[in-house]
Amino acid sequence: MGRILLNLVEFLSEQMSHYNLTSKEHYLNAYQDSMEHPEKFWEEIAEENFVWRKKWENIVDWDFTKPEIKWFEGAKLNITENCIDRHLETKGDKTAILFEPNNPEDEAEHITYTQLSERVNKFANVLKDHGIKKGDRVCIYVPMIPELAISVLACARIGAVHSVVFAGFSATALATRINDCDCKMVITADGSYRGAKTIDLKGIVDEALKSCPITTDVLVVKRINSEVEMTEGRDKWVQPLLDSASPICPIEIIDAEDPLFILYTSGSTGSPKGMVHTTAGYMVYSAYTFKNIFQYQENDVYWCTADIGWITGHSYIVYGPLANGATSVMFEGVPSYPDCGRFWEIVEKHKVNQFYTAPTAIRALAKESDEFVNKYDLSSLKTLGSVGEPINEEAWNWYNEKIGKENCPIVDTWWQTETGGILISALPGITKCIPTFATLPFPGVQPALMDEDGKEITENNTNGRLCIKFPWPSMARTIWGNHTRYKETYFTAFANNYFTGDGAFRDENGNYRITGRVDDVIIVSGHNLGTAPIEDAINEHPLVAESAIVGFPHDIKGNALYGYITLKAGNYEADELKAEINALIAEKVGPIAKLNKIQFTNGLPKTRSGKIMRRILRKIACNESDQLGDISTLLNPECVEEVIEGAL
Ligand code: WT7
Repeated sequence: MGRILLNLVEFLSEQMSHYNLTSKEHYLNAYQDSMEHPEKFWEEIAEENFVWRKKWENIVDWDFTKPEIKWFEGAKLNITENCIDRHLETKGDKTAILFEPNNPEDEAEHITYTQLSERVNKFANVLKDHGIKKGDRVCIYVPMIPELAISVLACARIGAVHSVVFAGFSATALATRINDCDCKMVITADGSYRGAKTIDLKGIVDEALKSCPITTDVLVVKRINSEVEMTEGRDKWVQPLLDSASPICPIEIIDAEDPLFILYTSGSTGSPKGMVHTTAGYMVYSAYTFKNIFQYQENDVYWCTADIGWITGHSYIVYGPLANGATSVMFEGVPSYPDCGRFWEIVEKHKVNQFYTAPTAIRALAKESDEFVNKYDLSSLKTLGSVGEPINEEAWNWYNEKIGKENCPIVDTWWQTETGGILISALPGITKCIPTFATLPFPGVQPALMDEDGKEITENNTNGRLCIKFPWPSMARTIWGNHTRYKETYFTAFANNYFTGDGAFRDENGNYRITGRVDDVIIVSGHNLGTAPIEDAINEHPLVAESAIVGFPHDIKGNALYGYITLKAGNYEADELKAEINALIAEKVGPIAKLNKIQFTNGLPKTRSGKIMRRILRKIACNESDQLGDISTLLNPECVEEVIEGAL
């Protein structure tokens, strides 16, 4: 009887708490409360589920015209106290990070909360010993090994601002990011494993640092035991330093709006944008969304296959899961090594309950024989997730039938580096999942569709440009060193709104389907690529006069890149030149940005003001040259025919 009563009380209090959404009605109630009383709504979530060293004076202060956004101002906290320390008493022996190495023959590593605490504290002390203080920027260029998560948390513990750079970026891309935010230190590894290959990370760092005068210290994790050059006075192996460091490092007390990290994302023009995320709002929102969008239960094993070099890994491998005391799998390898069954082997081996990946991976694996899937027991799976780009129906169906056995809801989560956390998604088992739709906004999120004149479209069953009308706690606060660009990129196109850069369709029930970018950003294999930096790289080739990049549909990558390139006069061999151009792109931007198709042109269609008409080039690349619309206002309409004739 007592037990039943206890369960009932637990049940009722769960129903009351908006932190743990358990039914459709509960979601609708929470959503309505979050619209009518946003401050009360977020205060309750923050108050009841996190550890604060001092409470806030204000829940939210915002002005999208400046723009200025502040959440929980006046509060003091440390995010690592929330992600680690507070779990030690009750969950010290629970696995926090479950590391699955590249080579399936090597043993997985279960890092408990107690061990994580010790390793993060030691690492934090090593940072301090090297003069890193609150507010200093530290670049982390480390592959998917435990030290990546540990160094991220070590920075957060002492209030240093981490800037993780995906360890697949080139030396030039790395140098740009180190210099943009003046990183004093770089943390890296001798090299990394990627399937059957190894990558010489330290060599890339050495190359990058030739143009980074600010960086005085490099800490190197030993991973592949390769021979690397160590620069005297600058480079140190980190393990001996960790061995002698104290396992106790008191937290630095951080203000709610102090920066937690910078993460770079491509823009449609110019250099990458260093999105700045601050501490309290980011913590509250990443934790709250994690709990509900994956419906994480105490003993679940959760796996997100992203790299911590992207926002998905920051929010949904590290901070969101750990703030909830979850077990988060971290996988070093690739889905195709040693064969295309690797993901499913890992699901079986660790009895993964929630699996979160990208459509590009799903499409690649769906092309392989079902044998790779059927060999494994996937019955532990409860929820599947998708992120990074629109998921096409075919891939959705395969994921649903072959992986979920039609028994696991698929959450198609829409968000961005800038948003810090998921804004639109179904809640598994609670709200309806609809193929190709991200579906409904999370509590606190107010989407709006705008027409081309900047007016809000209030009807349903329409397409529009996707904006968000009200701030949410984890939105990026600025672009590092360039607040004007932040304002221009996100708050200028539609007055008093955050503009996402995406187009969307809303159905009669208010479900959103993301239709893709409406700017010059192209998503290739889930990676966000701006056209401008790629064109800049191409234009550096001495034979190139000008170039334009567009995306076109690709079976596996979602989009692939098509380059139109006009050459200067001269002698060249076409295939050789194409290879040179792609090598240049790989060096300046990274191998992900290589062009799938290159068409040499005599000229590119332009507006009268001289702007290249990418809209027309996009149609041609997509085999839709019969739908070009009116081209009579072009400066040089005659070149269009020629481009169509030469199309690949
Ligand atoms: C862009 C943001 C946020 C994590 C990874 C990407 C596209 C993201 C979805 C989705 C359709 C999606 C959008 C967005 N996108 N998720 N579920 N359905 N499109 O972060 O690199 O900042 O890219 O990715 O176009 O604007 P990102």
